[in-house]
Amino acid sequence: MARIVGGAAGPHSPVVYKLPWEESGDYVAEMEKVRGALKEIGRRIGESNVDTILVFGADHVQSFWFGCFPQMMLFTGEEADYSIGGNKIMRLKNNRELAEELLFGLVEEEFDVGFSQEIDFFDHPFTVPLYWILQGADNRDIKVIPFQLNTNVHPRVKLQRCYKLGQSVRRIIENSRRNDKVFIIGTGGLSHYPGTPYYGNVDEEADMFIVEKLREGRVRELTDLGYDWLDATGNHELGSWIAAAGAVDVKSTEVMTYWKAWNNGYCVVWFNV
Ligand SMILES: [Fe+2]
Repeated sequence: MARIVGGAAGPHSPVVYKLPWEESGDYVAEMEKVRGALKEIGRRIGESNVDTILVFGADHVQSFWFGCFPQMMLFTGEEADYSIGGNKIMRLKNNRELAEELLFGLVEEEFDVGFSQEIDFFDHPFTVPLYWILQGADNRDIKVIPFQLNTNVHPRVKLQRCYKLGQSVRRIIENSRRNDKVFIIGTGGLSHYPGTPYYGNVDEEADMFIVEKLREGRVRELTDLGYDWLDATGNHELGSWIAAAGAVDVKSTEVMTYWKAWNNGYCVVWFNV
């Protein structure tokens, strides 16, 4: 039986991959802690002999486009390029058989999931956390299933739907006859306002509200949050975290790091099962 052995969530800002501007020594040191937490997730994954990582991440109008704009999309091709800002960083194998099983299972469970068998690239919502996590795992044979959610363009996937999606993913994996050991990751956030005049604001109070609910395993209470609140607090990417938490069936959460930088609330968490 396939099974989900754990999960985590963390930021995907390209800044976490590489600083595009000069920063203070303190900023650099704090950023190293964020990267260290992502590498620690990888180290733990390596210890658990995980063979597949399923990543929930937001599309940033890079693969979804206005010729066809789905709410969610699962990659069912053999392998894909992973880039940052369109520059290729790595190429990773998919667990195609499990991805197909998820696709058919989710449609059966009434999730109208789009699928892609060929794609130009997956960008920073997937590449940035995977870059550090796979480094920590010291294992490039781990397969990656990218699962894109539309949490950026109206109308967007609601958090309740994200949570139920995660629960369905869990059911399908647990009912699979395959032997995969799957780890789930949600990426994005926390508070930040990219591409808006508000960039440089961080709503730490909102972040702490989210972090405390997660810490106590009260994820369902977060699913009542609507996009009015999520947009106002810069937490529009929370859906990927909620989907991951639903798939893991999280009981409590270890907050590995939280840092209120001037441009982002950087948070890395480990979901306890
Ligand atoms: Fe993002």
